[in-house]
Amino acid sequence: MFGPDQDVILHLLEVPFVLEALNGVVLELEDGGYPLLRGIVATTEAEVAFKDVDVAILVGAFPRKEGMERSDLLNKNAGIFKVQGEAIDKVAKKSVKVLVVGNPANTNALLCQHYAPSIPKENFSALTRLDHNRAKAQIAKKLNIPVRDVHNVVIWGNHSSTQYPDADHGHVLVNGEKKSVRDAVKDDKYLESDFITTVQKRGAAIIAARKLSSAMSAANAIVDHVRDWVLGSPEGEIISMAVPSDGSYGIPEGVIYSFPVTCKGGKYTIVQGQHISEFARKKMQATYDELADEKQAAFDSIKQ
Ligand code: LMR
Repeated sequence: MFGPDQDVILHLLEVPFVLEALNGVVLELEDGGYPLLRGIVATTEAEVAFKDVDVAILVGAFPRKEGMERSDLLNKNAGIFKVQGEAIDKVAKKSVKVLVVGNPANTNALLCQHYAPSIPKENFSALTRLDHNRAKAQIAKKLNIPVRDVHNVVIWGNHSSTQYPDADHGHVLVNGEKKSVRDAVKDDKYLESDFITTVQKRGAAIIAARKLSSAMSAANAIVDHVRDWVLGSPEGEIISMAVPSDGSYGIPEGVIYSFPVTCKGGKYTIVQGQHISEFARKKMQATYDELADEKQAAFDSIKQ
């Protein structure tokens, strides 16, 4: 994730209830004999966990349980991300890069950012690389080509079922020939229906099959997200990151929204100038509207 020569000190934060299990993870990490692992701090204290960290990956959130309203979920998570945001603000490096994975990830990232005002706003992100990888994999499967030959298919908006997986600017290599995704797939109906819904509902499909949320593919996407942010994205490759909107593509500031980005020198840049069709605009607006509602509910809940 940080390159082949970068030593790593892992800080692991857990809730007291499962501290023993965390200690078991530490034993296994030691037994892995990982050449770059130089230290482990296992703790239940946020201010110990975030002390001087360069990168914070916030995986834990309160899971939605049967009968819970979305507002209950936002309320529970507001508590978690308040504690973590405040600790990051107080003890992490000011240059810390924060990636929120726990759902609702975009809004949790916004809450965390809110409670860490001394950290630059652009250092907060949420994971949509998992959706990005899912979108690429669906196109590869449709065309029966390796995933490595699918490029620049991106995700807009929320990491939820309103996200907009967009193949309009993607290209593929088929038998060595570069083609747009649309020309290669030759099925606009698929790209505007099944492709989108499959990616939007993939997290739910995994939960239905495994009775557990995605784990391996999520971990893989976390590595992709952080590696590209820290070390740079491959030349010519556009990736997806949920980051604070700067008004690009007419998406108002004040939400963490997934955009097409490239990364260089430890910074991401939102790719500008992509043509947005009427169809795309509607989808981008719908996922923005959901984020605006989540934001309202989350900030209402912290005022109570
Ligand atoms: C996923 O996309 O796999 C997860 O975010 C789904 C979930 O709700 O945990």
